[in-house]
Amino acid sequence: MELHPDCERILFTPEQIAAAVDGIAQRLNADYAGKTVYMVCILKGASTFYSDLVRRLTFDVRFDFMCVSSYGSATASSGAVCIRKDLDSSIKDMDVIIVEDIVDSGLTMRYLTENLLSRDPKSINICALMDKPSRREVPVEVKYSGMEIPNAFVVGYGLDYAERYRNLPYIAVLRREIYAPAACTK
Ligand code: IMP
Repeated sequence: MELHPDCERILFTPEQIAAAVDGIAQRLNADYAGKTVYMVCILKGASTFYSDLVRRLTFDVRFDFMCVSSYGSATASSGAVCIRKDLDSSIKDMDVIIVEDIVDSGLTMRYLTENLLSRDPKSINICALMDKPSRREVPVEVKYSGMEIPNAFVVGYGLDYAERYRNLPYIAVLRREIYAPAACTK
């Protein structure tokens, strides 16, 4: 498979991603069997993961989408989150799963879980394809996590840098000179 020239190395191939998605789906199918579950996709980064995941689920799934943006630099969030698109329906008394691409500092997920908890769901859990625990600034329980990754900026399979690279079929480490050119001149 040809590596995009802006990327340093492939972290996960399409086959490894599919295996991780399978593993998460199996756990969800066991834990939520017989339930109706409100699956909240966090746009845009989780869209590819979401569409692969939901097709492996065997319980009654309800789709909804939220779009949030966090203020901060292009590669690190500040914790101040703006809801650009909210849920279409009430989640009161529903079992809710937040489907996220990656949890980094945890600030976005902390904001979202607090926000959604205030709407009185029956339960709420986080499902993230990737987790960077070494970057955590606030504690967040990622109950369903596909892959733990080191402290690197990754793109592909829905994840972007400046809206690019989302369509790559693999997950790759972005070259540092692409997102921090000044830091690399030293
Ligand atoms: P947090 O609030 O710091 O946990 O950041 C979460 C959000 O930052 C994720 O939903 C992603 O959109 C973005 N993000 C964090 N790390 C990466 C990365 O390595 N590549 C692309 N986006 C990332």
